[in-house]
Amino acid sequence: MPSVASSVENVPYSRIRELAEIAMPMEGVLRLYFGESNLPTPDYIKRAALAALGAGYTFYTENAGLPSLRRALAEKYRELHGVDLDPAGEIVITASGVQALNVGIRCALDPGDEALLLTPAWPNGSSIVAMANAVARQIPQPLCDGRYHVDFDALEAAVTPRTRLLVYISPSNPLGWVATEQEQDGLLEFARRHGLWLLADEVYDRLYYGPRLGEPVPSILRKATRHDAVMVVQSFSKSYCMTGWRLGYLIARRDLAAKAAQLNEFIVSHAPSFTQKAGETALADGEPELRRMLERLNENRDFCLDALAGMRGITVPKPDGAFYLFPRIDGLRDSFDFCKRLLSETRVGLAPGVAFGAGGEGSLRICYAAERSILEPAMERLAGFLKSGR
Ligand SMILES: Cc1ncc(COP(=O)(O)O)c(C=O)c1O
Repeated sequence: MPSVASSVENVPYSRIRELAEIAMPMEGVLRLYFGESNLPTPDYIKRAALAALGAGYTFYTENAGLPSLRRALAEKYRELHGVDLDPAGEIVITASGVQALNVGIRCALDPGDEALLLTPAWPNGSSIVAMANAVARQIPQPLCDGRYHVDFDALEAAVTPRTRLLVYISPSNPLGWVATEQEQDGLLEFARRHGLWLLADEVYDRLYYGPRLGEPVPSILRKATRHDAVMVVQSFSKSYCMTGWRLGYLIARRDLAAKAAQLNEFIVSHAPSFTQKAGETALADGEPELRRMLERLNENRDFCLDALAGMRGITVPKPDGAFYLFPRIDGLRDSFDFCKRLLSETRVGLAPGVAFGAGGEGSLRICYAAERSILEPAMERLAGFLKSGR
């Protein structure tokens, strides 16, 4: 009897999913374990998808996606970042951010190569590296003076002759950390000096509580040239509440972008045609709705931070982006067990810190992109659970 290939047996399971699968059949759970808003996709985007179906967007498209969507994205980057992208050669539409990450990593690594990943991080990066038969080296981001940092010494120490790729997420899932200009300069310089691909996952770039609400986190593309070995992973999921639509894109140096588009053929061929068309409408008309969502997220973030400040033994820096808090709990050794007990005893579903790799154990991830009617009882029950010392 043939067995499942050992190379796939070695791909780690997502521990967020593991917790979610325990929670899903339960009733009355306050679900804050997944990384998505509980707002539905706005109606103007749904209407655009229906109109696209009516207009015949039901056929195959180019592997790199509809030229009109790529042009709209290039226009958006020019407007938001002052960056010029060639829509025909440097942007590849994908069926989700996960798929952009997958094809980007696949194009950067050969079997046996090594990738450095800043952690705690959404686990898909490390698992995709394992799927490419390569080795993921996780480099924890230390927390000092109320802020997460990049440990450049640890990065230097981890480089070997097989290192080919450095992956980071900014704004970070789960930390909410946003790379400063200086950190971006440092990461780019490090990647250039060691001849590495630099992959920046910027899917939360519009969820930024910076000086002016609505402004994006400055992309690494503002600093890199189009000849640098830089990739940016992007998605429509978070900014436009389109998680179920599966629409994302990869921006990359043109040789890698061409190969990624070609590989799309053998993975999903392309993102769904009418979904791509709806994405164009999201880009064109999405700003007012995005502003409203940001205001709500900003309030939710402050509400949860206040609630956590009232609980003993918790350290949580104020995040600058995304929609997560990652409180560290004094003395916590097994965050999965903690989340399982919290779930069964209080019906609050959080993601265990251990799911996010090196540096994650001892913390919990709270997604605050939910209504106050969910967040308020969730914070109250968490406080009660911690107080009772369970
Ligand atoms: C950091 C990060 N990158 C990429 C994604 C992928 O998003 P999607 O596949 O829904 O486009 C997610 C989703 O949670 C994420 O947190």
